[in-house]
Parts: sequence; structure tokens; C-alpha cells
Amino acid sequence: MSMKHVSVLLLLLQMSCCFRFGICGKVLVWPMEYSHWMNLNIILEELVRRGHEVIVLRNSASIFLDPSKETGIKFENFSVSFTKDDLEDFFTQWVNKWTDLDKDSYWGYFPLMQEMFLEYSDSFENLCKEAVSNKKLMAKLQESKFDVLLSDAIGPCGELLAELLKIPFVYSLRFSPGHILEKYSGGLTLPPSYVPMILSDLSGKMKFMERVKNMLCMLYFDFWFQTFNENRWDRLYSEVLGRPVKFYELVGKADMWLIRSYWDLEFPRPTLPNIHFVGGLHCKPAQPLPKEMEDFVQSSGEEGVVVFSLGSMVSNMTEERANVIASALAQLPQKIFWRFDGQKPSSLGSNTRLYKWIPQNDLLGHPKTKAFITHGGTNGIYEAIYHGVPMVGIPLFADQPDNIVHMQAKGAAVRLDFNTMTSTDLLNALKTVIYNPSYKENAMRLSRIHHDQPTKPLDRAVFWIEYVMRHKGAKHLRVAAHDLTWYQYHSLDVIGFLLACVGTVVFIILECCLFSYKMFVKTGKKNKKE
Ligand SMILES: *[C@@H]1O[C@H](CO)[C@@H](O)[C@H](O)[C@H]1NC(C)=O
Ligand SMILES: *[C@@H]1O[C@H](CO)[C@@H](O)[C@H](O)[C@H]1NC(C)=O
Repeated sequence: MSMKHVSVLLLLLQMSCCFRFGICGKVLVWPMEYSHWMNLNIILEELVRRGHEVIVLRNSASIFLDPSKETGIKFENFSVSFTKDDLEDFFTQWVNKWTDLDKDSYWGYFPLMQEMFLEYSDSFENLCKEAVSNKKLMAKLQESKFDVLLSDAIGPCGELLAELLKIPFVYSLRFSPGHILEKYSGGLTLPPSYVPMILSDLSGKMKFMERVKNMLCMLYFDFWFQTFNENRWDRLYSEVLGRPVKFYELVGKADMWLIRSYWDLEFPRPTLPNIHFVGGLHCKPAQPLPKEMEDFVQSSGEEGVVVFSLGSMVSNMTEERANVIASALAQLPQKIFWRFDGQKPSSLGSNTRLYKWIPQNDLLGHPKTKAFITHGGTNGIYEAIYHGVPMVGIPLFADQPDNIVHMQAKGAAVRLDFNTMTSTDLLNALKTVIYNPSYKENAMRLSRIHHDQPTKPLDRAVFWIEYVMRHKGAKHLRVAAHDLTWYQYHSLDVIGFLLACVGTVVFIILECCLFSYKMFVKTGKKNKKE
């Protein structure tokens, strides 16, 4: 076959999606950083592989978006007034603050978290403002005729861009605090009697007092907590669109929500036709390890290995904590891969190796891996579920405590507190998950549940994005709840009407009785007289 033939064949293969589905779309992406980007990136690469054109809006301060990688994803750059270092400092400090919040004192925890979220909201608002006020960029986007916009619901601005460009949009989302976005903009129903609020630290099996806590948590998020500085966003969106709009209303126009969880991690609850659960979409079979790592794994013999990572956002810890961890690990017969980017702890055992980066998925998928020490980020949890590895959870912030609580309730994890745990605690927790077979069995059960789905999570995510492109939106999947006011939604007007009806009937009957009684008394008196 000549070179020409090969390239034509490649082109045909590339365009296969266009032939099969009749559309090769143009996808615009409003991205986020860190693990949120990694998740989105997986979907984008798959879209590119299927022949779609994917263009990501990349600000000049971006930390994680790497245009030098040959993925086929295109980047549309725009400059912002802050630098990459500013952004990195902001996120590092933000995460440190959240990590350091005292979770045992609700009175302190939630107000401080509120402050942090307003900070976060304002910084995102500034970024959004810089993007939409960039005339050159906006003109270019208008010209480009996109089919769909993809963004993370927790990093706003995507909905505004979609409105400006008059294109449908799809959200990817793990959670919003108190599920506010999913609930009030997405229309999702979350009965507090059996759906644990996110950030409540509760699992789906709640006793009475836990349900009380869940209800209080829900009321707090519904009526008090502000995930986004609503007034400022309302003002920005109204200014840009030239008419009064509400931020949450615009978010509610999303055609499709792709939620990054599933019934292996979460407890079952009601959902909607335009909300799809695609947890674990980044999971894939393990690839062979680099030789040095494979040799280290093999050197563990029968005992196997333990994988330890606290995620991409937390790179260092105090010397004291590092030593507590290192001395616990040193007492294990297993070999340990520790993703750690700090100074080498003095109590580090010869069985533990430090790595700046580890191929986490490949390690977790290795048959010799016995346990995973994790901060409980959704991505790591899903890799552990995918490969059926029991966990020791050391949650730090965000949804991590909730994720670990769920894994604990499902019998696949032991939970520790990062700031108070001792070496003995960590050692005992590790021995429990490694040597008590129930943990492995439960992890394997979750793995089987995860693998037994009609379509793979990534295929599902891509299917629904293509679906939105094919139908130019998915308004037909929206529940009519979006068009109702809050009292209509809760049928308060109907209840009021029915009560009024019943009241009227009762009133009429009472009046009739009274009337006939009076008549009866009157005629009785008359009869007596006669
Ligand atoms: C955006 O910047 C990256 C890296 O500097 C570059 O590779 C890419 O071509 C730029 N995109 C456009 C559309 O200019
Ligand atoms: C993490 O490292 C930075 C500098 O590398 C340092 O300023 C900071 O104090 C460290 N944090 C902890 C918790 O050790």
C-alpha cells in the first residue's frame, strides 16, 4: 500500500464517527485545573479519537493544561492579568486552609469554609470577566461555530459562554457543596431521609441522630451557605448579556449533567433523564510498570506491595507527620510505593520508596498490590474500586471524607485522621485491610459492580455529549420542574387550593346542619306551642 493509501485510510478511520453518527462536532471547553482537568481531559481525548474537533480555552496562567502534549486537543489561548505562580499559590493556600480546618467543630468549620468559597468564587469570577471581556477572543469564538460547550459546573463561566455563543452545553461535575447546583439548577431530588448530604460526613445508612444531622446540614446549605457569590455573578452575567439574568437560572439551562460517581461509590438515589452517572470514566486496565518499579514489586515476594498517595494537590506535609507515617510503613513486611514530594523522612524504612510521581492506576492494577493508602479523592477511589483494592483512607478536604465514609460503610476501607493518627493507628489500619479478608472481598464486590454496566462510563459520557450535538441540545429531557416556582414545585398552591375546597365543603355542610338545626328547633317550639 502506498503512503497515499495509508493516509486516506487513516483519515477514514479518524472520520469514522462522522460516518457512523452523521456528525463530527466542534467542541468548546471551559476547563478547570488539577484533578478536574485530568477528568475532563480523558473525555476530550476520547472525543478527539472519535474525530471531533476539541478546542480548550486556556488562560495564560494555567497550571495543568499542557499544550505540548500530542493529544490532538487544540488550545485557544487568552492572557490574564495574573500569573501561573499566583494561581498555584492561590490553590495551594486554599487547599491548605481547607485541610487545616478543624472538622470536629462545626461552628468553626462551616463559617471558615464559607469564607473560602467566596474567595474561590471571586477568583473564578475575575477569570470569567477577563475571558468574556477579551473582544478578540470572543469574536474568534463567535466565528468558530461550535456545536457544544463542555465545562465543569463547579468552575462557572461555561454557561455564560454557551449563552453568548447560543450553543447547548454539558456539565461534568463531581459535586457542588450541599448539592446546590444539582438540586436547584439541575432539578435533582435528594430526600434528606436517605440521601446523605455531601460534606456531611454521612453514609447512606443513617440512624435517627444521623438523619437529624443530615437534615440540619441540608437546611444549612439550602438557606445559609453560598457556594458562589451569587450577587456578583448575577451582576456579571446581566452586564455581559445586557438583560437581567440569574446565575443559577443560567446554570439550570445545562442540557446534560455528567456526574462523576456511580452506585459503587454512592448509595442509590433518584435521578433524572438528563443527569448521568459516569464515575470512574478515567479507569482503564493496568499497563506494565517501568522496569525499576516492576523489580521493586517483584522483590516483595508473597507479601506484596502497598501504594500510598495523597493526591495531586497535597505535595508536602510537616516533618513530624512524615515521620509518623514513615515509621509505620517501616514495620510492614510489604514493599511500599509512596508518592511524596518532600524531604526524605529520617524514619523511612528500607521497604519504602519515595516517588515524585507514580503510575497509580498501573500499580493498583498489579496483582501484587494489597492495599491503597489514599486521601480519598474520587479519582483514586475509583481506581481502587476498578481494581478491587482495599483502602486506608486519610481524608484531607472536600468530598474526601464523604468518599471514605462511603467506602467504610461498604466495608472496603478503614478511616484515619491525618492530624491525630499515630504510627500504631496507621500500622493497625494497614494490617486490618491487608489481613482481614472481608476488606478484599468487599473491594472485589464493588469492582464487580463497577465493571457490570451496560456501557463503560467513558463511552456513556461521550455518547451523551454526542447526543447533545446530534439533537442540538437536549431540552426534551428536561423535567418541567425547571418552569415551576418553589411553591408550585412543592405543590403548595395545589395543597392550598384543595384545602380551600375541603374548607368550603365543610363550611357549607356545617352551615346546612346549623340551618336545619335552627329549623328543627323552630318547628319544635312551634309544635310545643300548638
Ligand atoms: C496556544 O499556546 C500554545 C503553547 O504556547 C501553542 O502551542 C498553541 O498553538 C496556541 N494556540 C493558538 C490557537 O495559538
Ligand atoms: C510545603 O512546602 C512549602 C515550600 O515548599 C512550605 O512553605 C510549606 O510550609 C510546606 N508546608 C508544610 C505543611 O510543610
